[in-house]
Amino acid sequence: MSTDSVTGASARPVVNVKGVSKAFGDNQILDNVDIEIPPGEFVSILGRSGTGKSTLLRIIAGLDTEISGNVTLRADAGVMFQDARLLPWLSVADNIVLGSGVRPDDPTVRELLTRVGLDSIDPAAWPKTLSGGQSQRVALARVLIRTPRLLLLDEPFGALDALTRIRMQRLLGDVRENYHLSAFLVTHDVEEALVLSDRIVILDGGKLIFDEILRLPAPRERTSPDFTAKRNELLRLLGVA
Ligand SMILES: Nc1ncnc2c1ncn2[C@@H]1O[C@H](COP(=O)(O)OP(=O)(O)OP(=O)(O)O)[C@@H](O)[C@H]1O
Ligand SMILES: [Mg+2]
Repeated sequence: MSTDSVTGASARPVVNVKGVSKAFGDNQILDNVDIEIPPGEFVSILGRSGTGKSTLLRIIAGLDTEISGNVTLRADAGVMFQDARLLPWLSVADNIVLGSGVRPDDPTVRELLTRVGLDSIDPAAWPKTLSGGQSQRVALARVLIRTPRLLLLDEPFGALDALTRIRMQRLLGDVRENYHLSAFLVTHDVEEALVLSDRIVILDGGKLIFDEILRLPAPRERTSPDFTAKRNELLRLLGVA
């Protein structure tokens, strides 16, 4: 647990998962999983397809409560999935403010569109006129308007082309920095995890088999020897190298 250097108070984790198990019928997915996320930490979770990463994220988000064990969330969370899940019958602005209490013509909407790199988009535009990357930017704005302290991200860039994905990773890194957010990112992209995270965990056989704080120098260079070595180590642990 980290300690606040000014007050001396312990910073309590924003996420505390303790002894969580989850089965679908006879299929044991999570087996007594513990994970804490301290305030401000960016954690990525890797693991083979079907190991239960999304299940764990949904449990942390409170979307699945049929579990044993305990989950404590001490921060407002914003959730993003692989698809933007914009409502096609609402404008971009209406999608962003939906349920937030903010009016669609509030200046905050324009500011957020600029923040996510969509200053050229008309807030009155329909979602169907947006590209996949633009849609995910709107989805991010929709999360940010609620001023979350924690992002729960399930492969948010998984459906995007490689170049757009790199741009979105930069945007997410900037947003996280500017808003001092904690994050829990599910990804298959080892480089994405290495570029963005303070810490990486790997889920396998229902358990976290790897949990490490990254000691890579900033900015993270994808071609640096340290980065490449860590990528290869993770790929080996994932059984693909
Ligand atoms: N609602 C459900 N009912 C039954 N089984 C489920 C349900 N949701 C998930 N599962 C099963 O639980 C396991 C874990 O699923 P989950 O979606 O969490 O995996 P994942 O690690 O996110 O996989 P991927 O990387 O492919 O997204 C899978 O075997 C899946 O079939
Ligand atoms: Mg998944």
